[in-house]
Amino acid sequence: MPTRADETIEALLLEKRRFKPPKSFAARASVSTSGVYRKADRDFEKFWAGFAKELEWMKPWRKVLDWKPPRAKWFVGGKLNASVNCVDRHARGPRANKAALIWEGEPGDQRTITYRELLREVSKFANVLKSLGVKKGDRVTLYMPMIPELPIAMLGCARIGAIHSVVFGGFSAESLRDRINDQGAKILVTADGGWRRGNVVPLKKISDEALTDTPTIERMIVVKRTGGEVSWRAGRDVWWSELMCDASANCPPEKMDSEDPLYILYTSGTTGKPKGILHTTAGYLLGTYATSKWVFDLKDEDVYWCTADIGWVTGHSYVVYGPLANGATCLMYEGAPDTPGRDRFWDLIERHGVTILYTAPTAIRAFMKWGTEWPEKHDLSSLRLLGSVGEPINPEAWIWYQKFIGGGRCPVVDTWWQTETGMIMITPLPGVTTTRPGSATQAFPGVRAEILDQNGRKVEVGGGYLAITRPWPAMLRTIWRDDERYVKTYWSKWNKDTYFPGDGAKRDKDGYFWLLGRVDDVMNVAGHRIGTMEVESALVDHPAVAEAAVVGVNDEIKGTAIAAFVILKEKSQTGTAATGGNGLRSELSAHVAKKIGAIAKPDRLFFTADLPKTRSGKIMRRLLRDIAEGRVLGDTTTLADPAVVSSLKSQYEDKEG
Ligand code: PRX
Repeated sequence: MPTRADETIEALLLEKRRFKPPKSFAARASVSTSGVYRKADRDFEKFWAGFAKELEWMKPWRKVLDWKPPRAKWFVGGKLNASVNCVDRHARGPRANKAALIWEGEPGDQRTITYRELLREVSKFANVLKSLGVKKGDRVTLYMPMIPELPIAMLGCARIGAIHSVVFGGFSAESLRDRINDQGAKILVTADGGWRRGNVVPLKKISDEALTDTPTIERMIVVKRTGGEVSWRAGRDVWWSELMCDASANCPPEKMDSEDPLYILYTSGTTGKPKGILHTTAGYLLGTYATSKWVFDLKDEDVYWCTADIGWVTGHSYVVYGPLANGATCLMYEGAPDTPGRDRFWDLIERHGVTILYTAPTAIRAFMKWGTEWPEKHDLSSLRLLGSVGEPINPEAWIWYQKFIGGGRCPVVDTWWQTETGMIMITPLPGVTTTRPGSATQAFPGVRAEILDQNGRKVEVGGGYLAITRPWPAMLRTIWRDDERYVKTYWSKWNKDTYFPGDGAKRDKDGYFWLLGRVDDVMNVAGHRIGTMEVESALVDHPAVAEAAVVGVNDEIKGTAIAAFVILKEKSQTGTAATGGNGLRSELSAHVAKKIGAIAKPDRLFFTADLPKTRSGKIMRRLLRDIAEGRVLGDTTTLADPAVVSSLKSQYEDKEG
């Protein structure tokens, strides 16, 4: 019986449209011949070293790679500073007065920060941290809206060797607290609030709640963004502006070892506890620098816009480190794409003359739904390249993007990568690759990706598990305080020199990769990674819930939506489930938002007396998916209690009817 993945791939492979790089684009592209692949493959260490020479070092490295699987050290013995590479070296030269950041707030306020100004701000903030006793290796948590102070704070940390950890502003107080405690952070940087869809996200209030039980936090630095009322704890809380006005703009950068940590970023895995992915200095910087340069074909005159929130890895690598290391001009936008109107993105592109746009399929699908009249109101002719990231892009959305946003003239780069990989791994090179809608095409030069079967046998043409079979510079080094999980999750499926990303994929006869989504219990909801177990634990934490099972189901806009099946405890069951349970349904939803954040709220929630399990007690997730998607039921012969399914199915039909 064909699986869902098989059906998807069959549909994708029927996709015969091909798009060669436009001649005019290829003629000016930084890379325009496929020879780079062969060259990089012949000696990948030499290939990466070539890029590394374009960075600024305080001490040269002795050895490109020291690989003792699964431990890699890149640019051994080298010393450098990430903030120097992203800021100082541009501020010193002809880019000094070039805009590094063009920022626009949701209410329409604007700021432009040149490289020279950025250097002053970053240095001042680095001195602020020092004055508060932050030292190399200390952790600083950043829980901030999309405002320039966020990259300034990140680079300020990097300047003195403090490890930053950005927590996405959509996470709840509890999630923030858990992350702060896992890191043992000394300082929390936040803002009074941020604008989102005309409302204020009360970041200071949430931070106050989070800090009720965070013994390591000494200070909370607060940026005044919205000017709203906030409560204040004297001695702990301090305004950003007050600290900055006294700080010196001269802060000599710390000499960091290539392998010194740069940041921790949490991401969901298959257990209830998120993983603190650790990235280090040289390899990460180099990987994001090189991929920004080649995949986005960055030129000095570009206005580059990656729409991701910096709270996710895409923002770290492709709003901050990669483009700034290239001396690019980056647009940064605070708010929602439909505020005040559904043309906000197109308006931003027109007014700021954006040339490169990097966004997510979920956004593209929402734009498709809103209709072409919104982009058609604006002149988008400044665009020359489009990118996609975060989840598989369906060919229909790809074509729409290419046609209505790119005007048929811009190459589209569908880029596959992860928090763990740090940098883009599978992607077209826009001046070289013939693209096919729905395919991320090929591994970036120097990267080796393969399809393996369960036993680690290579699949030349066909489907299986995606594997990365050679180390790459921006690879994660470990999971913060859980090295065992690092080895087990990523390097133990096959041999310990082969990285397991957790994605299914297929390779066609031309060697193109077609990514199929996660094969583990991780969902990709509107481009955000959420573990089914995380949501299950949040549900079970509610006093009325006895058991919960969560599955990802297909969704037209979000890609994956969250469906939850909940068994209530005997006592509280009376009255609630029987009356349709809508009160409890919203209570449970609110509980998940409180435990994790609004992004993890179930889209569909079913109450059930039992869950379909195999005779060995394993929850049959495939069946739950079938039920939640209202499909004809699959094979139920292994089911312990077939009655469960019919009762669930009738509930589903009631709800839909
Ligand atoms: O399943 C893949 C999917 O997103 C996962 C990584 O999520 P995260 O660490 O949050 O990083 C997202 C931004 C890089 C992957 O395991 N994914 C990401 N990009 C693509 C993708 N799936 C298909 N095509 C992509 N271009």
